[in-house]
Formats: sequence, structure tokens, C-alpha cells
Amino acid sequence: MDATDAQAPQAAAGRAEVDGSFWLFLRRWARNPLQIGSVVPSSPALGRRIARLVSCGADESVVEMGAGTGAVSRALLRSGLPPERLVVVELVPEMAEHLQRTLPGVRVLCGNAFDLPRLVPARLHGRIGTVICGIPLVLLPLERQQAFVAAVEAVAPGRGFLLYTYCATSPLPWRRLGLAATREGWTPLNVPPASVWRYVPMGPARGDAGSAG
Ligand SMILES: C[S@@+](CC[C@H](N)C(=O)[O-])C[C@H]1O[C@@H](n2cnc3c(N)ncnc32)[C@H](O)[C@@H]1O
Repeated sequence: MDATDAQAPQAAAGRAEVDGSFWLFLRRWARNPLQIGSVVPSSPALGRRIARLVSCGADESVVEMGAGTGAVSRALLRSGLPPERLVVVELVPEMAEHLQRTLPGVRVLCGNAFDLPRLVPARLHGRIGTVICGIPLVLLPLERQQAFVAAVEAVAPGRGFLLYTYCATSPLPWRRLGLAATREGWTPLNVPPASVWRYVPMGPARGDAGSAG
């Protein structure tokens, strides 16, 4: 998306950067590093890189999973996405409360992204332009990755998802997950440097075969 006249969300986004996001993130990382996956929030540069890859049609929404303290969410709002078109999912209640407080107008769902079909209101199913994943999927076993792919497919059939990662190669075994994979972005302006991958379903997932991909 490109910048538009979304002034109010931009102002809210700017305020959110000085409201303790960083320390909340760091505290949660210290408590559960595997769940958070990164020691610091994503940079504005990575957020902008992701925002450029997002599409959202006239009657569609964008779903962001693992929103943390809202670093990517704010970049999406700054890019012109109207807040009412953004749905964010966050597992940690303290972070979800922070998102609710700092991102007015955004629908914040506190819950597990693997429950996406239940969490996302039924009227939005099939009307999601882009799904973004910030969850450290690379740390999960194949069965959980398959469950994640199925959850996304249930609410956004055929759309797949964007995944940002610090891995040099695909963080997901895409062939075994029945996905096509494209590395669509990279930014050195993140700690650590990050890539953005797009994964799109190729057909029924194959759970047992395949090699590196
Ligand atoms: C790497 S952080 C990304 C945070 C933020 N999007 C950013 O870019 O700064 C991963 C986030 O995913 C959340 N998370 C991990 N597992 C999750 C799950 N199963 N469902 C929803 N959120 C989850 C963590 O609590 C954390 O906030």
C-alpha cells in the first residue's frame, strides 16, 4: 500500500512509539524467548518493506498475527491502511492490551493464531487481502507448521501469507507444506537483517515427504 491521507492513525502510530513498547517487548522476551522469537521489535524499515507487499481490496481486511507491541501494525497504518481494516492477533494478553490501547480503531484479538478460524469473525472469512505472520514459525515442528498453514487457509483461502524472518534461506520447508515460496523483500535496516517471504498454497499439503524445501 502507498501512503494516503490517513492522518489520525498516523498520529496514533507515532504516539505509540514512545509509550513503553520497547520495554514491554524486552520484558516479554526475557520471560519467554522462544515465544517472542526476537529480542527487539521490528524496525520501521522492515515494517515499510512489509507494508509495500500488502494488498487490501475495497471490501477486504489485513490480518497480522503475532503483532507484539505493534511495530508492523503501525507501519501498515502509516502506509494508509485504515485502522478498521486491520485485524491483529496476539497471544500474550499484556501485549494485546497494549495494542488495544495504542492502536485506536484496530481490531485486536487476544488469542492463539492457530485458532484463527474461531478468532476471526466469520463475516471476514474469505475477505482477507493479506495475512502477515510475525510468529517464529521456524522454531515449530512440521505438524504445527502444517496446522498454521491450515488455519490461514480456512480464513483466507488461496491467499497464503507473508512471513518475516532472520533466516538466510526459507524458514519453512515449503514443499513439504504444499506451498510455493518467494523471497519478496530484504532489509539490512533491522536487527538482525530480515527477509520477507510469501508462501502460497500449491494444493493439498504433503506431510511426510520432500527434502530441504
Ligand atoms: C517476533 S515477535 C513479532 C512482534 C511484532 N510483530 C514485531 O514485528 O515487532 C512474535 C510475536 O508473536 C507472538 N506469538 C507467538 N506465538 C503466537 C501464537 N501462537 N499466536 C499469536 N501470537 C503469537 C509473540 O507473543 C510475539 O509478540
